[in-house]
Amino acid sequence: MCVDHDWPQKGRERMIVPAPVGVRGTGRPDVEPELLAKLDADHVMMMGDNPALPVMPERPGLLDFFRLRFQGITARHLLTSAGRALDDGHDEKVVLACLLHDISNGCLIRTDHGYWGAQMIAPYVDEEVAWAVRYHQALRYFADESVGYRYPESYERFFGPDYVPPEYIRRDAGEARAHRWYMSSRLVTLYDIYFFDDTPAPDPERFTDIIGRHFREPAEGLGFDGSPVAHMWRTMIWPNNFL
Ligand SMILES: [Fe+2]
Ligand SMILES: [Fe+2]
Repeated sequence: MCVDHDWPQKGRERMIVPAPVGVRGTGRPDVEPELLAKLDADHVMMMGDNPALPVMPERPGLLDFFRLRFQGITARHLLTSAGRALDDGHDEKVVLACLLHDISNGCLIRTDHGYWGAQMIAPYVDEEVAWAVRYHQALRYFADESVGYRYPESYERFFGPDYVPPEYIRRDAGEARAHRWYMSSRLVTLYDIYFFDDTPAPDPERFTDIIGRHFREPAEGLGFDGSPVAHMWRTMIWPNNFL
């Protein structure tokens, strides 16, 4: 937290209504009516920088989201996955897809994270990278013995041993299997492993050059370039905005 920062909505209590998608169906109370009733000269709904989060630069780049916004487990998972793909000598586009494959879980939304993630990066990366991110979600459920990919043991724990993915996942996995870029997405699933050992995650700086070559960082910063997905990046900068 930056103490010298000039926080918005000075002198008032800034209330946070959680995003509906994070609370619907969870049994957590719906606080919206209660907080709406509290609105007065001293109570407002939060808009803008939240002192509970690190301040983002005015023109944030991709790695700023890794350092300042993504949840610890996701940031570590992405950096480690990309680091292993790089160590194994894979194409830089595959390394980038590994680095970005779960960014949606990092700070935006978990549900259908492959589809969201692909959309978030589409304006800035080669089409094949966004494609690999989109389809890794579906391909994760389907083994491919020819490359040594087995159904994840973690999924048996996450979803139960008898879980069957829905029709759209089966359909998309089938489409991906027949596509010329199949192996790029399949490689993402091969490096999609949670490494809970003591090996430190790579420094995000390790990927600066690859990002420089394959991710078109907008000069205005992610969130401010007027692209069709800018609002998704702004939502990660200000996840607690009321509107
Ligand atoms: Fe994923
Ligand atoms: Fe993953």
